[in-house]
Amino acid sequence: MKKDLISITDFSKEEYLKIMKLAAEFEANPNQELLKGKVIATLFFEPSTRTRLSFETAISRLGGRIIGFADPDSSSATKGETLHDTIKMVSNYADLIVMRHPLEGAARYAAEVSPVPVINAGDGSNQHPSQTLLDMYSILKTQGTLDNLNIFMVGDLKYGRTVHSLLMAMSEFENPVFNFIAPTVLEMPEEYKIFLREKGIKYYEHKEFTAIVNAADIIYMTRVQKERFSDPIEYEQVKNVYILRNDMLDNTKPTVKVLHPLPRVNEIHTDVDSNEKAYYFEQARNGVYTREAIISHIMNLK
Ligand code: CP
Repeated sequence: MKKDLISITDFSKEEYLKIMKLAAEFEANPNQELLKGKVIATLFFEPSTRTRLSFETAISRLGGRIIGFADPDSSSATKGETLHDTIKMVSNYADLIVMRHPLEGAARYAAEVSPVPVINAGDGSNQHPSQTLLDMYSILKTQGTLDNLNIFMVGDLKYGRTVHSLLMAMSEFENPVFNFIAPTVLEMPEEYKIFLREKGIKYYEHKEFTAIVNAADIIYMTRVQKERFSDPIEYEQVKNVYILRNDMLDNTKPTVKVLHPLPRVNEIHTDVDSNEKAYYFEQARNGVYTREAIISHIMNLK
């Protein structure tokens, strides 16, 4: 049976740990010809820098070939071809499909239609599971554990698919505590809070974080996603509500790391970049090794 990665919950805790182990192996030895003779399609119906390029780097380092598009305007979707037909066609050509799409549920639909495995590279504000696995790899590398961590999630927790996937994955580990910092209109959706309550996992909600940030093990900043707002005035009201500045890290734990899936706009001041607690650029590099690991696991290469 084929294996897809659409929601982070499609993988078990054991699979998360296997991906972490494989990612470390690929970090030590990134160039392995495991995909020789294979063709991978990257279909990006929404803009991307890191996800597409790190998947394509991962595929290249594994010796595979890449087909696809970075801009749906260059595909026959502009002529009215349905997602169903696009996926049917591409699965004739490729051994694996990596897809980003603006609609929640589009990736699950593609996986149902496709005879070859599908990896969700982000579907609207729903899920971004490969980002979560690279976030977990970054947390494990910097904290030495995925247990007993106090995780601060800051910014757009409503539309931020990365925080949705990350809280679900981290809930599989021992005693996580979540602190959600968001303006009222961008609060963590109720379904994720119900998910945590049903698992007996502690979470707290705040409107500001300067006074409490010293308790954090991980500060996970997010961008307010302009493209998800139907009302531009509402975006203007919340776009710069939280800005992390260097002096806010002065009394934080020595081991704390600042993560961000990127791109950032204003939410992390550039004066943080040279702070040893800033980890977001290394986090993006970890995406290559983690995506090599995800592809290897899905295609049973290792
Ligand atoms: N983190 C992330 O998804 O970045 P891109 O939108 O550049 O792919």
